Amino acid sequence: MKAPQMSAAPFVPEHLSMRALREAAAGCQGCDLYEHATQTVFGEGPAHAKLVLVGEQPGDSEDLQGHPFVGPAGRVLREGMAAAGIDPAAAYITNAVKHFKFVQRGKRRIHATPKVYEIRACRPWLEAELEVVRPSLVVALGATAAQTLLGPTFRLTQHRGEVLRSELADRVMATLHPSAILRVPTEDRDETMRGFIADLRAAAKELAV
Ligand code: URA
Repeated sequence: MKAPQMSAAPFVPEHLSMRALREAAAGCQGCDLYEHATQTVFGEGPAHAKLVLVGEQPGDSEDLQGHPFVGPAGRVLREGMAAAGIDPAAAYITNAVKHFKFVQRGKRRIHATPKVYEIRACRPWLEAELEVVRPSLVVALGATAAQTLLGPTFRLTQHRGEVLRSELADRVMATLHPSAILRVPTEDRDETMRGFIADLRAAAKELAV
């Protein structure tokens, strides 16, 4: 079956400013995800941040509140950043996909992984955000963000923590998604968190050079 041809490109304004992008993204219908999500969750943070962090897609809390990484994964992310000496307020934080994809189970909305064509459809927003921010380093959180930035053959297990070049940014590093830390068995959580913090420390060091 052929993947549907969908794209956010027609919704991206010609004049690239963060304000114009945010306003236009609020009305994006570049793929079907807008139909069930509450709202577009666009990136947030300083428009010329040296560091951009890219997650996968907003979760339930983010969809309801309209801000990226404000739920449980956001708490892990902020804890990791603080331990690595990175001020979360100094980073621009966004997602590869700007609408929450979920399946309804009774009253609960369960995260569903976006399809390749949905990630591709949303890419023009990430491209535009990176063109405005022009960060020194982009940190991809998890495989979806990493593959958006580094291509579908990128393997996090093989290249985690390496500084690589992408079509979208000169320097990209990939690490775990904070939700992955929440999913590991409790007995492995501290060690997984230490690895995440080590990657973020390496990112902070890259920013300092
Ligand atoms: N997970 C993500 O990838 N992004 C968010 O904003 C929240 C959870």
